[in-house]
This record gives sequence, C-alpha cells and structure tokens, in this order.
Amino acid sequence: MNEEVKANKIISISRRRGLYWPSFEIYGGLAGFYDYGPLGLLLRENIFQIWRRMYRLEGFYEIDTPNINPEEVFVASGHVSSFSDLLVTCNKCGESFRADHLTAGIVVSTDIEEIKRALASGKVKCTRCGSNSFSEPRQFNLMFRTFIGPYEGKKGYLRPETAQGIFINFQQLLRFFRDSLPFGIIQRGKGFRNEISPRQGFIRLREFNMLEAELFVDPEDMSWGRFNQARDVMTALLPSGGELIRISFGKAVEQGIIGSEVIAYFMYLTQQFMISLGIDEKRCRFKQHGRDELAHYATEAWDFEAELSTGWTELTGIADRGTFDLTSHSRHSGADLTFFKKHEPVTVKRRRIVPNKVELGMHFGAKAKAIAEKMESMESFQGGSLKVTVDGEQYELSERFFSFVEEEVRETGTRITPRVIEPSSGLDRIFYAVLEHSFDESTETFDFPQSIAPIKIGVFPLIEEERLIEIAKSLHMELLSSDIESYYDEHGSIGRRYARMDEIGTPFCVTVDEQTLEDSTVTVRERKTKKQIRVKSEMLVQAIRKLLSGSGLEEVAYNGEVFR
Ligand code: GAP
Repeated sequence: MNEEVKANKIISISRRRGLYWPSFEIYGGLAGFYDYGPLGLLLRENIFQIWRRMYRLEGFYEIDTPNINPEEVFVASGHVSSFSDLLVTCNKCGESFRADHLTAGIVVSTDIEEIKRALASGKVKCTRCGSNSFSEPRQFNLMFRTFIGPYEGKKGYLRPETAQGIFINFQQLLRFFRDSLPFGIIQRGKGFRNEISPRQGFIRLREFNMLEAELFVDPEDMSWGRFNQARDVMTALLPSGGELIRISFGKAVEQGIIGSEVIAYFMYLTQQFMISLGIDEKRCRFKQHGRDELAHYATEAWDFEAELSTGWTELTGIADRGTFDLTSHSRHSGADLTFFKKHEPVTVKRRRIVPNKVELGMHFGAKAKAIAEKMESMESFQGGSLKVTVDGEQYELSERFFSFVEEEVRETGTRITPRVIEPSSGLDRIFYAVLEHSFDESTETFDFPQSIAPIKIGVFPLIEEERLIEIAKSLHMELLSSDIESYYDEHGSIGRRYARMDEIGTPFCVTVDEQTLEDSTVTVRERKTKKQIRVKSEMLVQAIRKLLSGSGLEEVAYNGEVFR
C-alpha cells in the first residue's frame, strides 16, 4: 500500500469510526481546524495521560494558564516582533502561500533574498492556477490578535505556545518548589497559530493541542543525575549539516554532538514515550536545527521526527531556551525573575538604593510607600533609570526619585537567572503519527498498544436474547464504573461485532452466551491472537485489569484453558 493510499484509508476509517474529521463541514469547512470524535478523544486523552504520568514521575508539576494573554507578554517573549512566516500571494488567483514552502524545491535556505530571486525567476508556479507571478514576499505574524474588554479595549493575543504562561509565573513556581533548582513544570493546552495556508491535514493546524514541559536549571550545572539510565540507549541523530548516525545518548554527549546531559536526557525520555505509544523506532530520528533554523529564543534544538505520509514530520521540539525568556520578561515587567544561589559567605561592595520619599510622595501619592518598599528590596543598582512593578503597574523612575550609597555587605549567595530546557510536543501530531504507525495494512485495523487503545473491552450478548442482554449490560456498567473503557453492542452478527472492535484496536471482547446462564462464566477474546478463555463473570473486572497490565490469558482463565 503506498503512503498516500494508506493515509486516505486512515482518514476514511477515522471519519467513519469517530476518531477525527474536519471542523465546520456543514458550512464548507475551514483549513487548519479539526474536530475529535468520541473515539479520537478517548485515544488522545490516553496519550496525554501517559505523557503526564511520565513527567510527574520526573518530579514535574502541572499548571494551567489562560489562552488569551495581554500584548505585553508577547512583546517581551519576542513573538510580536519575530513570530512570523514569509507570505506571498499569487497575482492571478489571489491564493496565499508560505514563501519557503512554495520555493522549497528551488531554494534550500529561508533567506528572503534567495526566495525573492527564486520567485522572480519565473520557475515557481502557483499550485492553484499555475501562474508564475507573485506579490513581494512579506513577513506575516502568525498570532491571532484580539481585544480584551469592550470598545476595542486592551490589545491581546491567543497564545502561540503555552510556555509563556509558565515563564511569567516563575516567582510563584519557585516559591512552590521551596526556592530550589532544578524544577519542572508541565502545561497542556491549546496553541493558536494563524498558519498562512495549512495544506497538510492534521499536521498543520491553526488551533492545536500542546504538551509543553519547562525545566528550570542552574546554568552552571547542566548535568543530570538520571542521565545514567539513558547513557547506553541508542538513538538516531541527524546533526545539522551532517549525516544520520546511530549512537548512544552517552556517546552523543561525550562527543559534543548533543550539548548537555540534560538535553540528552529529555531527548531520551521523548524517545521512550513515543516508542511506548507504538511509534516505530526504525522510522523516527532527532534532527538538529541549524543556526538559521533556530527559533529566536533557542541556543540548541533537536526535533523528534517520525516518518509519515507527510514525510519526516516534527512531533516534539527539544530546545535549550537559555535565559532568554526570564531575562526578557524581567526586563519588560520589572519583576525579579532570578534565583538566589547560595555560596560560602564573602564580603562585597554594593550600591544600595535609597528612595527619595518626598519626591515619590509628591509624584505618586498613595502608591509612594509601596514603590519605596519595592526599591528598597532591590538587591543592587547598575545605573540609569529604575523600573519597578507595583500591583501589576510598572513605574520607570529617574534619578530624582532615589540616590544610592556604596556599602560593604556580607554575601551568602548570588542571584542567577535559571536556564530553561523545553521539550514541547504537538499532541495532535503525536495522535496522527500513532494512527499511521499503528495501522496494520494487511487487515486495515489499528494495532494500538493496550495502554492507549480508546476502548479496552467490547461487551456483547451472543444473541439478542433478553436474559443475555441483561447480564451483558450489567457487566458493561460494572467495567465502566471500574474505570475500564467498555463498549456495549448487541446488534449484528458476533463476527461483525468482533471485526468492528478489531478495527479500532480494542484489545479484548467479552461475550455472554447460553453457558453463562448455566455456570456464570463469559468468554473473553484477545484481539491479537484471537484466542479465548472463559472467566467467572464476577471476576471479570479483576481479570481484565490483570490482562491489561500484561498477564497472559492462561493466568486469568477460570479453568486455565485457552481455546480458539
Ligand atoms: N514552545 C515551543 C514551541 O512552541 P514549536 O516547535 O513551535 O515549539 C511545538 O511547537 C510543537 O507543536 C511542534 O513540535 C509540533 O508538534 C506542534 N506544532 C507546531 N505548530 C503546529 C501546527 N500548526 N499544527 C499542529 N501542531 C503544531
């Protein structure tokens, strides 16, 4: 089956079985938006829970921050000035394109001058009408703009990444972690990007689900205790400008291919996570960003890519964001986003700020006291004007509002800005990659790992007979209330019902039959082997739990017998 045929099969099963489909279809659809159906949502949530659990085991905590942010946040983060793609429009039919995508076969870099030359050469054709005449390329900011409050009040944006919600809460979070580094935060939430022309189905969305982790570390210590468990694990790396290599994470750090243990550890964790979801180890790799590909905040970045019908596709980006975000938010907000790193006591000279309370009082009235206190709490003064934030409002203070004294103080530590390591995933892309990599072409079914299968068990009465229906329904309810995702079906032949469950990767089915009425046993069928056992119905929940945690059929069979 070629990749395109396979992708089309997956799309059609997904639509028919309620995994996902394009949004707003009754109004003609809108590129870049998709709905999850009932089964798709179950599958997606299982993937999310595995990711969440993995990071909780690493000591990360989860937070949730708003989708809409005031403009200041994205001015400081650099998104207002830098989060853009090059836009060109066809002069004949008006279709818009990302210039780098349109010129991909001709130009290898994202350099604007090269792209302009390629467009002027006449070799680039509009994929809609075939014309070779285009507008001048221009930067198009990908953020969705909005207004917060009535009468076009305050400018805001839908967040293009959840990460900023974590950075701007650094003070709160540091306090939560009792003033110690390293610490990690995860956030799952929507990201919004006004992609110029999303043409790759589920891969490029305008509203998508992000799974982001931000690890705050001491910049002077990029070692990672738990790296030992990753040291000998093999991976496939495509270093920038180099060839694909198979190498252990340990060797990749030793040879300086991966910049630090901590980055390598989170690459390892990402790889383990993907493999646990059924992503084929032989069809994935880490690709390093070259200098010209790095996001405006990153100093090192590796993309976890899976080979899909769309080509090599990024599912997760692992970046060293350095101190960019905390430094920038601190500069723009005036908030202290540093960490006090203790050391042996030493005596040092410093400039202490002395607020001019008379001037402050005359100028700021009731706020003067709070401003003065904030100034006094500042550690040192470098010169120039001072920025302080009180009750969310920022004040820029010239030298008439303060003086300073030189003094000797005993220092027990220094303030440092933590460095941020970020593994950031697109949940929708992972979901889609799981569909492609789990798809069994010979049977046209999904071979999901049990842990993420949307339905864990199908429950059927063998025939539509009242007594069998009653027992089957009550078993279904018992399974559901025990948190085992169960699906009840009484219609059609038993073969058809099994086939419907097999198609969506349901690992087990239970059938209630005449024998159930005699000895209270039911049949449990395993999808992968098509083998069956009988289980006492009052032990069903326990048996399914055991099977889902890896026990073999014979271990849970009522009489130990396994049959077909
Ligand atoms: N905070 C870092 C960040 O946002 P990114 O590489 O731009 O990094 C992270 O995005 C992940 O989000 C990507 O690895 C990808 O899986 C997913 N992603 C990015 N843009 C997307 C889009 N338009 N549609 C679906 N997923 C997207």
